[in-house]
Amino acid sequence: MSKNICFIDGLEGILKYREIDINQLVELPYDAVSYLLIQGELPGDQELAEYAACLHGEREVNREVIDVIRMCNFNVDSIEALRTIVSFISQFDPDINDSSPEGNMRKAIRLIAKIPTIVAAYFRIANGKQPVPPDPSLSHGANFLYMLRGNKPTQLEAEVMEKDFILSAEHELNASTFSSRVTASTLSDLYSAVVSGLCTLKGPLHGGARAEVVTMIEEIACPENAENYVLDKLSKKEKIMGFGHRVYKTYDPRGTIFKQLAKQLAEAKGDMHWYNTAEVVENTVIRELVEKKGKPIYPNVDFYSGVIYKYMDIPPQLATSIFAIGRVSGWIAHCFDQYEKKKIIRPRAFMLDEC
Ligand code: CMC
Repeated sequence: MSKNICFIDGLEGILKYREIDINQLVELPYDAVSYLLIQGELPGDQELAEYAACLHGEREVNREVIDVIRMCNFNVDSIEALRTIVSFISQFDPDINDSSPEGNMRKAIRLIAKIPTIVAAYFRIANGKQPVPPDPSLSHGANFLYMLRGNKPTQLEAEVMEKDFILSAEHELNASTFSSRVTASTLSDLYSAVVSGLCTLKGPLHGGARAEVVTMIEEIACPENAENYVLDKLSKKEKIMGFGHRVYKTYDPRGTIFKQLAKQLAEAKGDMHWYNTAEVVENTVIRELVEKKGKPIYPNVDFYSGVIYKYMDIPPQLATSIFAIGRVSGWIAHCFDQYEKKKIIRPRAFMLDEC
């Protein structure tokens, strides 16, 4: 079963969730992809309507959550707050002690629904604004941008946000999913498993790379600076964030889609500046590492998604949390699979040598 959640061909650059190619999935609503990951098959119209209604109906967070957000330190990355609040809200979940499949499903829906609300509320409060209540009539992506900004996004922005969540939703046994699965394998609860995932996603070698990409693009500032920036980093043996992957030895298929979306946004906004800057970074990395050194270092999921955040005025401090909004469905799909197995994950220390 776990093998079916995700398929990656790292040499051919193929990614599938539940045997459906990512290029097809990206045309669906996030709610449908979330259902697919968790239930194992695409929903019919009625099933999708019911699942979406459940998700959209669980978006609100209670007053205590907002009070705790107000006590957070706003000078650090938002993932610090998200990790704390997800842990905090578990105490209000009426199903916290119900580990039946039905109880776990209700918790899953609350987690997927409330995480965007927490991230948006954190951002609003950090900027001295009141949180914006969710709008149940909007899609996952549109509603998130609405709660973030207080006004409705353009259709293109809403679509890009949906696709961002879909492209970030699942990626087999990546580090954060592995963490979530290990926690679930002890039969600990779903909130604990998701908190484990958040803690692991945060690192700059994993989901934290996206925030670093946004910062890097800001630092480079213009296409004319990009080549020297890359050459300088490489001469100091530093890594270029948003490049390279343990599994892909060719272009990450998510990176290809994100690049197209970044271009679409740039054109729609009439501002190619950030896109052109990113393209010079990409071309320089490929020339220096792939063509001259034969290393398979291509843009990964975090590179052009970071560029998209520049166009959507999303600051680096939100990037990892936004990754988590998409990824939570994947973590939960793996946790459910692990709960069915009822088997603890307990590798031996010598296996670390192979990691
Ligand atoms: N920039 C420059 N050189 C690189 C990069 C990079 N981004 N990535 C790998 N290399 C080089 C590395 O220096 C090493 O060279 P050498 O063999 O001469 O020592 C070689 O390529 C192999 O790298 P590695 O770090 O041993 O490869 P890995 O499979 O252990 O790590 C990685 C994969 C993703 C952690 C790594 O490529 C990296 O640190 N990338 C930058 C951070 C990043 O973008 N992370 C997001 C990963 S994808 C999404 C996710 O998981 O969240």
